[in-house]
Amino acid sequence: MNRFEGKTVLVTGGSRNTGLDLVERFAREGAKVWMCGSSAASTARGAEALAARGLAGIGSRPCDISDAAQVAALLDAIDADSGRLDILVNNAADQGIGQGGPLEVDPAAMLKVLRTNVVGGFQVTQAVCNRFFMRQPTRGTVVFLSSNTARRAIRNRTSYCASKGGINSLVRSLALDLGPLGIRVNCCAPGYIRTERWDTLAPELAARRRRNCPLGIEATGADIAGVVAFLASQDSGNMTGEIVTVDAGCSCQHMPVDCDC
Ligand SMILES: NC(=O)c1ccc[n+]([C@@H]2O[C@H](COP(=O)([O-])OP(=O)(O)OC[C@H]3O[C@@H](n4cnc5c(N)ncnc54)[C@H](OP(=O)(O)O)[C@@H]3O)[C@@H](O)[C@H]2O)c1
Repeated sequence: MNRFEGKTVLVTGGSRNTGLDLVERFAREGAKVWMCGSSAASTARGAEALAARGLAGIGSRPCDISDAAQVAALLDAIDADSGRLDILVNNAADQGIGQGGPLEVDPAAMLKVLRTNVVGGFQVTQAVCNRFFMRQPTRGTVVFLSSNTARRAIRNRTSYCASKGGINSLVRSLALDLGPLGIRVNCCAPGYIRTERWDTLAPELAARRRRNCPLGIEATGADIAGVVAFLASQDSGNMTGEIVTVDAGCSCQHMPVDCDC
């Protein structure tokens, strides 16, 4: 399939893990792809990893999405090089790991997570719509990455869960207001994805997690990229404001199999 021939795509947080698979999927389907990590070093590492996958012509520039000036500079670079942007994938996330339980979380640390995941995703979207989509007759499409933890919380990740719930509401709100302007906004909400973090799990814990997934296996980045590409393509042309869960069936169970006795 070459659904994205002639399209330009920006994947935020394209420097590692799922972001690399998102960049790869759009590039393999014919798009000119841009990506950013939060720093020069991580963005350079991401660019190297993409080149090692045999992907040529990927645009990259560091951009902390919580900083409006850096967002503007990234869009300047895309405009100068490509002159258009058709698809925005808001994948970058602060995981907010290690903040402790809700009785300990420092509100300043929570704000950092919200500033990246909610405000950051919003300000990139706003800037892209004003700068590119509204001046292009074909407009454009936005896909956010949320999480199944927006609906079913995980322990001691208060800031992250709150931010992903915020993204789900943001997606519906943006879809409502931008739909009449010809801009679609949808969301993919993954469960477990196999990333570098998954590789650090003890084998028995990984096996237990898999046992508790109805499909018996966590998603790969490529699984997520396939759904994101669908949401970004004309194949989903009549969808907006949707949150598509990709979690091996975890959200449809009342109790994991470990407890079902
Ligand atoms: N992994 C999972 O099991 C899982 C489950 C559900 C949902 N998700 C969601 O799926 C998406 C991808 O997950 P992942 O595990 O692949 O993510 P990840 O490994 O934590 O990578 C996060 C990416 O976001 C970038 N980033 C973080 N803060 C940023 C900022 N302020 N500005 C710009 N970029 C920033 C990172 O850049 P640097 O390299 O510079 O740090 C990195 O490229 C995320 O939205 C995540 O919340 C993941």
